[in-house]
Amino acid sequence: MTELAEKERLGADRAEDYSALPEISLDVFTAPLKRPEHVGHDWLEPKQTEYTSEDDRIWDDLFARQMGILPGRACSAMLEGLEKLDLGKGGVPDFGELSEELGKRTGWSVVPVPMLIPDHVFFWHLANRRFPAGNFIRTRETFDYIQEPDVFHDVFGHVPLLTDPVFADYMQEYGRAGWKAMRYNRLKALGALYWYTVEFGLIMENGEPRIFGAGISSGPTEAVFALEAESPNRIMLNVDRVMRTDYVIDDLQPTYFVIESFDDLYRQTVERDFDRLYRSLGPSFTYANSAIIDVDNVLQRGTQEYFLRGGRGSSADPV
Ligand SMILES: [Fe+2]
Repeated sequence: MTELAEKERLGADRAEDYSALPEISLDVFTAPLKRPEHVGHDWLEPKQTEYTSEDDRIWDDLFARQMGILPGRACSAMLEGLEKLDLGKGGVPDFGELSEELGKRTGWSVVPVPMLIPDHVFFWHLANRRFPAGNFIRTRETFDYIQEPDVFHDVFGHVPLLTDPVFADYMQEYGRAGWKAMRYNRLKALGALYWYTVEFGLIMENGEPRIFGAGISSGPTEAVFALEAESPNRIMLNVDRVMRTDYVIDDLQPTYFVIESFDDLYRQTVERDFDRLYRSLGPSFTYANSAIIDVDNVLQRGTQEYFLRGGRGSSADPV
């Protein structure tokens, strides 16, 4: 196939319509999810759950625990966002109130979804500045760790940063980037970018790494581990490198990537020619999640001790 014909097939230069839910073809590699009967193709709940008083207490206890850890560790945009949205006023926040406040600041809203939603639906909501947040809240039994994102992870972890104008734009661009990744069948690569930034990203502030990823900021162990432990690598983020890097979904990360600023992350993402990048990427990851490669700007070379001792499946301390 000529380069022109190949471009035509992939629609490399086409103007996208982000207002309509994209189709996802069956041969695109993505996690299969069964849609609950009560939600439509947008996967939105008709309304937010009515929480019990125990649910509200769980939110308050989770909030208090994280606020005992995050000052001095989380980035200023996260801490300021928590204040601006008054997330500690008591009980699970109301999505309508959050949306009104966010709407005034950056034009985003928060919408309730029942569970993890398919990639193409997620991209569509982000591209339209809607953040899909899990409706349910964890129980006391799963207080310390749940794999499925609940309302605490989604609202406490993700929503405060949507008050930051540059981060808010980055999230929308990330959603838009989904259209191209689907055409090239490279959702894993784009997923790695989300993972290492929105979920597990660190950001330089006054010469020190601080937390901005929601997967870190919404849990007590990783909030300390990501910044202070000897085990993990800490490497300055390069978008191409990160999109070639495997990641761990059910344990602490062997490597954290650090951005200079949200401006830098935004620029690295929107200025990258993703057509060219996807053409050069294989379907699987090139680098192991603990690898350090020759082009890396390394802040800390980790000992990987926690993982060498067996990680979560063992009694290893997160050191
Ligand atoms: Fe998340």
